[in-house]
Amino acid sequence: MKIKSYAKINLTLDVLGVRADGYHQLSMIMHSVGLYDEITLLPNSDDGIALTANLPFLPTDRKNHAYKAAELFYQETGLSQCGISIHINKKIPVCAGLAGGSSNAAAVLRGMNQLYHTNLSTEQLCQIGLKIGADVPYCITGGTALAGGIGEELTPLPPLPKMPILLAKPACGLSTPAVFQQWDRLEQPVHPDTKAMISALEDGRKQQIGRLLCNSLEQPAFAYLQERGYHNQMPMLKEAMLRYGAYGSLMSGSGTTVYGLFPSRKQAYEAMKKLRKKVKFIVLTTT
Ligand code: C5P
Repeated sequence: MKIKSYAKINLTLDVLGVRADGYHQLSMIMHSVGLYDEITLLPNSDDGIALTANLPFLPTDRKNHAYKAAELFYQETGLSQCGISIHINKKIPVCAGLAGGSSNAAAVLRGMNQLYHTNLSTEQLCQIGLKIGADVPYCITGGTALAGGIGEELTPLPPLPKMPILLAKPACGLSTPAVFQQWDRLEQPVHPDTKAMISALEDGRKQQIGRLLCNSLEQPAFAYLQERGYHNQMPMLKEAMLRYGAYGSLMSGSGTTVYGLFPSRKQAYEAMKKLRKKVKFIVLTTT
């Protein structure tokens, strides 16, 4: 079985506070994009999980969310003496804020539920997914959603009007916990206007959507890189995308991918041509 495992971007990401367990209370608008990894699932008669990937540096054990998803699936369904081979053909960059790992876990859970005819509901799959990572429940449903709690309370929203999206990722990655810790030290955090964004989505107002893009983790991510003396390409990418006509541009998740929403494919393509030599990864996709 082959499954497409889609990346996501954040149109907004608001950090509302910190819970007693250290996790952060969030309110974010997530949106699936056309970039995806391909996951191949092949049940076999061996007892166990065998994971392979096209990238040699990806972990192939429990540290990989896809492996953990298969393991939890067997545990939760009580299926024993089953085995599965999982191959990940990765096209979504890692440590990028695009939920690549969470999306792979979600794809494995959905795929195994079909393969083994276990009929777990979306809610049950989301409960298993949350044990793997906060973004996994959203990745199980995908589309456009407001995610609350630590990311697991999902409300569907109207999608973005169809438009080209340019994704650009600098060479350096950022660790999610490190960015959240940096947020804890902020004196004046920035907050998106989530209500206004929902209303702009409902009305399909592209310019307004572009203006309202906002991520509370952008400021701490930039500060984290600056304090350590790393070269931060994200402000340059944002500025360049706006200069080439994007309605808006933002860092996704905890970074380091920056995306731009463009009025036309031609403008997005021009921006991609200009930025191609400057960043490690750049791709033109759509909603
Ligand atoms: O659950 P996930 O793997 O996405 O999160 C990685 C880390 O990011 C967590 O261990 C936690 O330190 C931080 N995090 C957080 N609040 C969230 C989501 C993640 O503090 N809502």
